Amino acid sequence: MGVSRRKVYVETYGCQMNVSDSELMLGILSKEGYTAVEAPDEADVILINTCAVREHAEQRIIGRLGDLYQFKQRNPRLILGVCGCMAQHIGEQIIARAPYVDLVMGPDVYRQLPEAIERIETDELYVSLSLDKTEHYDGVVPVRQEGVRAWLTIMRGCDKFCTFCIVPYVRGRERSLPMEEVLRQVHRVVDQGYQEVILLGQTVNSYRDGDRDFGDLLQAVAEVAGIRRIRFTSPHPSDFAPSILDVIASNDKICKQIHLPLQSGSTSVLKAMRRSYTAEEFAALIEQIRTRIPQIALGTDIIVGFSGETEQDFLATCQMMEDIRFDTAFMFKYSPRKGTIADRKLADDVPEDEKTRRLQTIIDIQQQITRESNQAMIGHTVEVLVEGESRRDPEKMFGKTDDFRTTILPGGNHRIGDLVQVKIVDSTGHTLLGETSHARSNCGDCPMP
Ligand code: SAH
Ligand code: SF4
Ligand code: F3S
Repeated sequence: MGVSRRKVYVETYGCQMNVSDSELMLGILSKEGYTAVEAPDEADVILINTCAVREHAEQRIIGRLGDLYQFKQRNPRLILGVCGCMAQHIGEQIIARAPYVDLVMGPDVYRQLPEAIERIETDELYVSLSLDKTEHYDGVVPVRQEGVRAWLTIMRGCDKFCTFCIVPYVRGRERSLPMEEVLRQVHRVVDQGYQEVILLGQTVNSYRDGDRDFGDLLQAVAEVAGIRRIRFTSPHPSDFAPSILDVIASNDKICKQIHLPLQSGSTSVLKAMRRSYTAEEFAALIEQIRTRIPQIALGTDIIVGFSGETEQDFLATCQMMEDIRFDTAFMFKYSPRKGTIADRKLADDVPEDEKTRRLQTIIDIQQQITRESNQAMIGHTVEVLVEGESRRDPEKMFGKTDDFRTTILPGGNHRIGDLVQVKIVDSTGHTLLGETSHARSNCGDCPMP
């Protein structure tokens, strides 16, 4: 080992792919003797893993870099690195605006981290931004951060090139982890004591290994002994083969929850976005999913104020949300991204205050639907995977249902990782409140029935 033992702090922004990548970064570094620490003031190396999906995300990170600079002022030997999608997107600008940054690294070159850190000891700056369409990080053992849930990136990159989206430029071409490697990692996750695995990819259902597709992979993962719950995110509506639905419907371990980004309810906007489906095709897919898996919970992503979106287009989105009644939705104002097709060819022509109004309108629609969807759970008994102590009340625990609703339950004797039957008795906007039935003693010593 060429370096003295070092402490590394990784701060993660953006989507679950970044959460998973941060775990891989820590995996690569821990193999070289580094240890992860929980706070920046304990670290010799600070890495921030960044997101470029909207301008707001980038601005937040620029602000955060300013905060982290104080640690460098206190400790001149501290290494400060910017990794991930924003590094890939505007690495040069980061160096210009924050010249105290030591390392700028895109998402495909994290294997270089140990060498890079060593080089920074003698050089001033290490920049590496090449995308590598063969990099899957196979063989890297991630250092996992979360308690009960293991994130597992099964495909990287994206080939869809939706006109608004930066991801294909900062994450490179689509590539899938070989199925044997996925299964090896699922076995490892089980051995480490995780109950739940979430398969990740920007278009996770485009997964392919030879002639085996995402449905085959899901089936194989469900057959791994010891795994209790399987989820995946995010599938693309155009790649949802009916066989995938069959696998979900027929496997208890595969959670009955699908996050399926719609983006817009107007076919002409979808076309301008290059989403490759019409509003009618999306609605038909939802119908097919609900027919095959009636208990499914559905989530979505919506963008308002995209180039050329008229009031009529916007109302079509509102109508579609009312018709489909997604259980949850992430909603965004369109944010032009430098280098994308929309930014080069289409005008960002919906005024900011109109984007704000449209966003607020759909947030109101969705809040009402989410509230009603949660209220409909009252009286049902559901299985909750216990994740931890409730932040508001240490006497209580929290966890997720099979369909990914956050549920608060009495602490009782439950431990993190337990699967508990919970009767839902109330709900707030986003959370279910549950009761557990009194544990029946089977010790034989007491006179309980
Ligand atoms: N791969 C996923 C989405 C990844 S990005 C998919 O195709 O479904 C997550 C979400 O961010 C997108 O679904 C979209 O709703 C939103 N998003 C992406 N680019 C955006 C932009 N330029 N402006 C606003 N929202 C955007
Ligand atoms: Fe972006 Fe579209 Fe790829 Fe999703 S499918 S990551 S929205 S380009
Ligand atoms: Fe952001 Fe990169 Fe994910 S741009 S949304 S962190 S893939």
